[in-house]
Amino acid sequence: MSQVATPDAQARGRSVLSRIAAGEDELESRLAAGLARVEERLRECAAGAADARVAEVVGYLVAAGGKRLRPLLTLVAAEFAEPGAPGVVDAAVICELVHVASLYHDDVMDQAHIRHGVPSVNARWSNSVAVMAGNWLLATSARLCADLVAQTLALHAEASARLVRGQLRELLGPGADDDPLDHYFGVVADKSATLMSLALRLGALQAGVPTAVADALAEYGEHLGVAFQIADDLLDITSSSGLSGKEQGKDLAVGVACLPVLLARADGDPRDDELRSLLSTPSGVAGEAHRRALELLRRSPAMARARTLMNERLERARSALHRLPSGPPSRALDALCDVVAHRTS
Ligand code: FPP
Ligand code: MG
Repeated sequence: MSQVATPDAQARGRSVLSRIAAGEDELESRLAAGLARVEERLRECAAGAADARVAEVVGYLVAAGGKRLRPLLTLVAAEFAEPGAPGVVDAAVICELVHVASLYHDDVMDQAHIRHGVPSVNARWSNSVAVMAGNWLLATSARLCADLVAQTLALHAEASARLVRGQLRELLGPGADDDPLDHYFGVVADKSATLMSLALRLGALQAGVPTAVADALAEYGEHLGVAFQIADDLLDITSSSGLSGKEQGKDLAVGVACLPVLLARADGDPRDDELRSLLSTPSGVAGEAHRRALELLRRSPAMARARTLMNERLERARSALHRLPSGPPSRALDALCDVVAHRTS
């Protein structure tokens, strides 16, 4: 990789870590060391492209940063057995590579201009380059699976298929007989919860965590992932581009039905009348209508409803934690629910 993770990118990863491991010095330093090894391995993977210009493209978004939430989940899951077990770091790298690959593709589909505060790959190079680079990252993640515990490759393949299914279902929209909210939660579970759950499952698997604990971790990941995506929907409406590293109001602009929009449509609150009429164009809103729709959404009662649904998911995630042995790793996962509830990027 010609670019390495910027100090800013590394700091973002550390800041989630320092928030979830506050007061647990040993856990924090083990996880920080694990994350540093993950960065190193990610860099090696991109360099493995063995062509400087390809390495630049495939390493570009990894170097731009990200919270490294999925690798962190893998490392925390391994804490329930043998954190230093061989394969734990590579399992974390696999999840980050799949995640980054999906962002390369997602930014093409969303016609995004910015990702992690830098021009997106499609904007800097082209749609075709972004799609091919995403394919390279996905293939590279599969190669790493082949050297890990036998089940790893099957779990990776299932998760990748689920991610694509989620994205396809989002593209196709709800069928005539589908409830739009049920459809939304199905999509979100596929496209966002899958990788959180996989990250925990793979960490548990490499470290030899007992099955019942691994199942509880995966269930926690499913609920956390849904909550994380709802927070993403809310951020798209409330956050400035500078903070989120993405463009504001992108879902509205490209006609992606985010949760507050679906709720404003479904609830029929008269305070949302103007908003509903602005949102009647399925392909998205532009210009002055976009600015006005964002303004109305920010003060819509649907925002509070979406927040309540997010908090309900976080409560379900916390319930799954009750099935884990208590101690620093399960407290860290509990603290992560607060981080998601107060996401700013
Ligand atoms: C971001 O959603 C996108 C995802 C969570 C998943 C995207 C999945 C694919 C493109 C399928 C292809 C998958 C592989 C494995 C290559 P968003 O647009 O709601 O969030 P954003 O605000 O971060 O863009
Ligand atoms: Mg997107």
